[in-house]
Amino acid sequence: MTDVTIIGSGLMARAIATRVLAGGGTVQILGLTPADADRLAAELAAPDAVSTGEVGADPAGAVVILAVPYAAAVPLVTEYGERLDGKVIVDITNPVNMATFAGLLTAPGTSAAEEIAQAAAKGAKVVKAFNTTFAGPLQVGQVSGQPLDVFIAGDDAAARAAVAKLVRAGGMRPIDVGDLSRARALEWLGLLHITLQFSRGTNFASAIKIIE
Ligand SMILES: NC(=O)c1ccc[n+]([C@@H]2O[C@H](COP(=O)([O-])OP(=O)(O)OC[C@H]3O[C@@H](n4cnc5c(N)ncnc54)[C@H](OP(=O)(O)O)[C@@H]3O)[C@@H](O)[C@H]2O)c1
Repeated sequence: MTDVTIIGSGLMARAIATRVLAGGGTVQILGLTPADADRLAAELAAPDAVSTGEVGADPAGAVVILAVPYAAAVPLVTEYGERLDGKVIVDITNPVNMATFAGLLTAPGTSAAEEIAQAAAKGAKVVKAFNTTFAGPLQVGQVSGQPLDVFIAGDDAAARAAVAKLVRAGGMRPIDVGDLSRARALEWLGLLHITLQFSRGTNFASAIKIIE
């Protein structure tokens, strides 16, 4: 049985797969080509816990993480259609205008996560998570010895809890922020965190943490 399917084989796919494996989970990587997925699997060096395939193959995991650019996410869930019915779909995208870093590509009053939910199969549960954690820190699960906070939004409590369980198993702290419309705030927070890299010179090694 596979716990998590990750679509994409880039930086975030590698970091999230590393955390899932650290938590004792199993991962299926679907790459744009089989060779892309195999290359990441070789880096992960956990052959018993990692399977691979090509984007378009059936997702084996109950949780499906879209580790792809924002522009690819809605076309992907549309293409998968009913094959994502019943799955927890995790949207990690930051729909940032990369030309200016001045704003988001989404319309006011919505979010990438809500766009994905609208396009997804009726029985799929969309959760926003990991968009405020940079790939480098996520790879190790912490910054300055402090576990990362992973903010989680979604309309289905059981789906949020499933993602929270993965986060906790991977050595991080899940923070449930409520329903999927909170993804709007998370996506603006993601943009803010990105722009702060330039003004503070932190080179995508910082983390956003709630101190209590
Ligand atoms: N990097 C970060 O620190 C960070 C932090 C938070 C959130 N995010 C978000 O995470 C997502 C992935 O970012 P990343 O840094 O991992 O990017 P990345 O390293 O460029 O990886 C993106 C992956 O998606 C694949 N891909 C591209 N178009 C696709 C399509 N149409 N269908 C399926 N797969 C496709 C890419 O394949 P090719 O390489 O062959 O193009 C690559 O494997 C983005 O939405 C980003 O906003 C990133």
